[in-house]
Amino acid sequence: TAISLLGVPTDIGAGARGASMGPEALRVAGLQAVLESHGLAVEDRGNLQGPGNPWQPPVAGYRHLPEVLAWNTALHDAVLAELRRERLPIVLGGDHCLGLGSISAVARHCRETGRTLRVLWLDAHADFNTAELTPSGNIHGMPVACLCGYGPPTLTGLGGHTPAITPDAVRQIGIRSVDPGEKRLVHEAGLEVFDMRYIDEMGMRHTLEQALKGVDDHTHLHVSFDVDFLDPEIAPGVGTTVPGGPTYREAQLCMEMIADTGRLASLDVMELNPALDVRNRTAMLAVDLIESLFGKSTLMRKK
Ligand code: ARG
Ligand code: MN
Ligand code: MN
Ligand code: MN
Repeated sequence: TAISLLGVPTDIGAGARGASMGPEALRVAGLQAVLESHGLAVEDRGNLQGPGNPWQPPVAGYRHLPEVLAWNTALHDAVLAELRRERLPIVLGGDHCLGLGSISAVARHCRETGRTLRVLWLDAHADFNTAELTPSGNIHGMPVACLCGYGPPTLTGLGGHTPAITPDAVRQIGIRSVDPGEKRLVHEAGLEVFDMRYIDEMGMRHTLEQALKGVDDHTHLHVSFDVDFLDPEIAPGVGTTVPGGPTYREAQLCMEMIADTGRLASLDVMELNPALDVRNRTAMLAVDLIESLFGKSTLMRKK
């Protein structure tokens, strides 16, 4: 597969400034060279453009809604263009509101090509808030809800079909911070969540076996990797840290088991915030994990 890197330098949906520098930090950490070292063909498409961050308070439950729409529309179009050329897009975020543009395009491509979509949402957060439920107004806490049809029509209709996806396409992994109202909606919608308690009790191996159940030759597997999925001890460079996340080894196993399916067809790397990082170590860790996601293994060579 040929890979396209798409930088989306914005922090428009976040509660802290700095994720706008994420794409460059991932490039500095050597993402392209690392992928190429595994024989993959990689083109860096550079950065998309969009409005600056006006840093305003929420209006009717949303912070920066027009700007979020502008960035996500641009990203939707760019991701769809890559998929239609049979390329594998890696979205370099940017904050996680961009999951909306990315996954709405992936869902559209799956509809067009008769694929079944499976989204693995690796995150400390469920990102299932609405304007009514959100404690912050930050739209990076809302993309999964918007994708499932809970949100403003401008966002829920981004990919030309509302809802873009149904909750049964999604498996959330690593969750450990869900707001009270959000929790109710997660249950109501029937989202399948493998939270940290589940991972503690059952282990990462069993968790991934469950999350990948049903993945077959017709599956388009999309991974939306919010870097705050990782334990903050190893990944400090994010705006919304939550203690008690997966360890280095657990995260590696998670990525390796996804790689083993051979079905990974699109990827988001979100919420990396270099302003909060320590000597780019979180970016380097993300690159290390992405390497495993694309098939790096110690000894065995599959295929
Ligand atoms: N649940 C909180 C909120 O809605 C935090 C969301 C954090 N999301 C993220 N993509 N980092 O404000
Ligand atoms: Mn395709
Ligand atoms: Mn998160
Ligand atoms: Mn997130």
